[in-house]
Amino acid sequence: MLQQLEELKLKAFQELEGINDVKELESWRVRYLGRKSHLTNILRRLAALPLGERKAVGAYANEVKVYLEDSLKQRGEALREAQLAASAEKEHIDITLPGRHLPIGRLHPITQTLHEICDIFSSMGFQVVEGPEVEWDYYNFEALNIPKEHPARDTMSTSWVDFQTENGVPMLLRTHTTSVSARIIESMPPPIRVVEPGKVYRYEASDATHVPMFHQIDGLVVDRGITMADLKGTLYEFSRRFFGEDRKARFRCDYFPFVEPGVEMAIECLVCGGKGCRLCGNTGWIEILGAGMTHSQVLQRGGIDPDIYTSFAFGMGIERLPMLRYGIDDVRLFYGSDLRFLRQF
Ligand code: DAH
Repeated sequence: MLQQLEELKLKAFQELEGINDVKELESWRVRYLGRKSHLTNILRRLAALPLGERKAVGAYANEVKVYLEDSLKQRGEALREAQLAASAEKEHIDITLPGRHLPIGRLHPITQTLHEICDIFSSMGFQVVEGPEVEWDYYNFEALNIPKEHPARDTMSTSWVDFQTENGVPMLLRTHTTSVSARIIESMPPPIRVVEPGKVYRYEASDATHVPMFHQIDGLVVDRGITMADLKGTLYEFSRRFFGEDRKARFRCDYFPFVEPGVEMAIECLVCGGKGCRLCGNTGWIEILGAGMTHSQVLQRGGIDPDIYTSFAFGMGIERLPMLRYGIDDVRLFYGSDLRFLRQF
């Protein structure tokens, strides 16, 4: 019996050494440690043996059993480890490989310019506000001293919307962001310091300097004691920050129905530096915005007492600014969706 057990132990161990997967391991377990295994058989038959032999065989059989169980456990662990190592090897990640590029979008150059301008005015204490693009005739024109038949309407070719209220009040696509100023005057109690960026629309054919949809930003300040000096100081500071320290700026008289007096601001030509060239029509100056002291009737109409409060306003086109800065000669490029153009910004 002892001899049999010894042989069994040796054979089982040798087989175990050659096993390389979990399935084989399980069949080994059934064969050597299972209920029908030789070892279990021997243990079961112990009772039939004479006492002396029973003790010796029993002790050794148990020893063999424990030994085989331990070996099985060890082999199982070794196999699992080897398997893990093999799959890690298969899924090996080469961290030196260059990554796959995700295409990253960017802001449109007009959006970038608007952000830049809003940042400058925010840092001067202005709040950024927005208004509707589909607007009542009232806020785009009437409230701003541009009644029906006023010639200023002709200068802003209007796209009318096929919609009006029951009593026949027409709507349009706003032709300037000054419409937002009309709304703010009516709805915000002074002191007011706002800038109003957004899209505006004019019924015009496209060419190198015109598109039917473009962008403007208007500004409005209403407070006690606001004067033309505030207007000039604010806009000089804007010019200094946007166009640079050394770029000269000048104001000249101009007319807009909603301001009195009205001015235009021009900066030294970015191409010729003031000497005169094709871009500036040989004047050396490039007009960038309109401004003025808000007309007392405009304040009054919006419910602000012009005897207590005074106000200045300004408005400028956005597209021209990056055009001047980067020497872009066709405004349509901004809206052609040509990535070769847009990726440059
Ligand atoms: N709304 C004018 C335009 O589109 C620009 C403008 C001029 C706005 C003077 C203003 C202003 O607020 O005070 O041509």
